[in-house]
Amino acid sequence: MGIEVVVEGLTKSFGKQSIWRDVSLTLPAGEVSVMLGPSGTGKTVFLKSLIGLLKPEKGRVLINGVDMVNSPERDIYETRKLFGLMFQDGALFGSMSLFDNIAFPLREHTRKKESEIRRIVMERIEVVGLLGAEGKLPGEISGGMRKRAGLARALVLDPQIILCDEPDSGLDPVRTAYISQLLIDLNAQLDATMLIVTHNLDIAATVPDNMGMLFLRELVTFGPREVLLTSDEPVVAQFLGGRREGPIGMSEEKDAATLAAEAVAPSAPAGPRVIVPQLEPSPGMPPRRAVARRRERVLGMIDTLPPAARSAIRDTYARSAEAATLPMPAAGSGA
Ligand SMILES: Nc1ncnc2c1ncn2[C@@H]1O[C@H](COP(=O)(O)OP(=O)(O)OP(=O)(O)O)[C@@H](O)[C@H]1O
Ligand SMILES: [Mg+2]
Repeated sequence: MGIEVVVEGLTKSFGKQSIWRDVSLTLPAGEVSVMLGPSGTGKTVFLKSLIGLLKPEKGRVLINGVDMVNSPERDIYETRKLFGLMFQDGALFGSMSLFDNIAFPLREHTRKKESEIRRIVMERIEVVGLLGAEGKLPGEISGGMRKRAGLARALVLDPQIILCDEPDSGLDPVRTAYISQLLIDLNAQLDATMLIVTHNLDIAATVPDNMGMLFLRELVTFGPREVLLTSDEPVVAQFLGGRREGPIGMSEEKDAATLAAEAVAPSAPAGPRVIVPQLEPSPGMPPRRAVARRRERVLGMIDTLPPAARSAIRDTYARSAEAATLPMPAAGSGA
């Protein structure tokens, strides 16, 4: 069962370099959230701060009453066992087989017997589609396989909070679509709270219940997916449109002169943004328990949201109500 993660006023810098300031958000229990943001905005630093591997100077990260920033190290260590973290670079041990890599957290954190470890590891290997590759070394398999091995390792301790750092990086579009479906299926099976960091617009559009974006040392926004998907904040619109025009430059921030020149000679306006439906669990999977909780939560806060988001949310739920009550049209019955 998923656990809520509450982030309050989190501020992190390295020496004189400020990474982000005053980040506050709540990852709702069992829901899937995505964090977007250009390279270098501190998304990986954010994930590592949630699990207590990096220490922000200010703020709190509350999980079951434990503050992952300020609690005694022993409590942080215990709470960390609730997490599964899929690292951006896989972070596999090069000299260990995939099997041993994936078994590592079980051998490190539990006293399970080797036969039990084998059962769990092989189950996870099957879930991520790596059966047959368990004896290989990380150097002997493709980047996409290493990513999936990293995901399998993140899953062996039955995590209630799953953090994925760019699960799509280095994957082709088809593999990325499989990963998207896999993440939704995992959520249906585990009811775990999930946070996915990604640049991938297809994942952003189809996977999460909630979405946020980091830019210029701040959290631009975080909330139901419809808020970000309908936002006309320039930085959000530029990112979702994958355009050069806008506040994001090659090295993060554009200078004022470039922005002024763009304003004088605007390029073709972005087309209307369409909200595509969220992925459903694959046939045979249990329904996602977060769906009903999310619906209640979002409809409860709808009056506080911008008008475009409000109507998008009403559309979403009107459509799902129709799908639930109307019989499917017979095949070939025409329009
Ligand atoms: N341990 C560290 N010590 C010092 N600086 C660091 C450390 N870790 C990260 N940084 C700096 O923090 C900034 C944010 O890094 P981070 O890896 O979080 O970016 P990101 O948003 O994940 O980028 P990308 O999308 O490219 O993965 C970078 O400028 C990086 O150099
Ligand atoms: Mg990163």
